[in-house]
Amino acid sequence: MSGPDLRRAAAAVALTLVEPGMRLGIGTGSTANAFVELLGERVRGGLDIVGVPTSEATRIAATRAGILLATLEEMPQLDLTIDGADEIDGQMRLIKGGGAALLREKIVACASTRMVVIADAAKSVAMLGAFPLPVEVNAFGLSSTRIAVAAAIAAAGCAGALTLRTGPDGAPLTTDGGHYILDAHLGRIPDPEALSSALWAVPGVVEHGLFLGIATGAILAEARDGEAVVTRLGGV
Ligand code: 5RP
Repeated sequence: MSGPDLRRAAAAVALTLVEPGMRLGIGTGSTANAFVELLGERVRGGLDIVGVPTSEATRIAATRAGILLATLEEMPQLDLTIDGADEIDGQMRLIKGGGAALLREKIVACASTRMVVIADAAKSVAMLGAFPLPVEVNAFGLSSTRIAVAAAIAAAGCAGALTLRTGPDGAPLTTDGGHYILDAHLGRIPDPEALSSALWAVPGVVEHGLFLGIATGAILAEARDGEAVVTRLGGV
């Protein structure tokens, strides 16, 4: 049972939540891509839904899969968003943004009545923070913002290196919104709400990857005796 098998198992359960006529937010990353593939099969079989992608990468993948898409401007309220996560804790608090799409992912999730996370159960943690927390920042004043972000992190009782994310060419990675990402290697985030508030108070911070009180459900897949076993959280 490989990672792709587990991602597909979680995505298959998420597909059962999709009903005809739904306005769907479609997440970003390898697990969301598994959902896009399965959703595409259903759409080609006649399922009538409209999707709003959370990134350019997902827009391209969903278009290829034959899924009818709209922008959030055209369809500003959604029924359900299905997306992956980098970490999920017992309160369904998340770290997202490993794929650099956190800003659009958060806007789309918050425009949805429900947001359901699909993930390998290995993403489940007792405390958030082992995965580096992405902080999306405006390119203007990067050095000043970086100092202020470090101070906000310290004020929230966390510590760790802040690194500017780079792309395959070694240049700073630019998000779909034209911003940069600082990854905060904190190890542990004892009070995610305090860190969230502290980061939002920094001018230049566009968004951060803590999704608090946003996910309404989760579908987590793990391997047991060679089979994919799925745990559903939040009454999904
Ligand atoms: C992208 C994300 C992804 O949902 C997250 O990184 C999980 O990706 P994957 O399913 O590939 O593990 O937040 O910004």
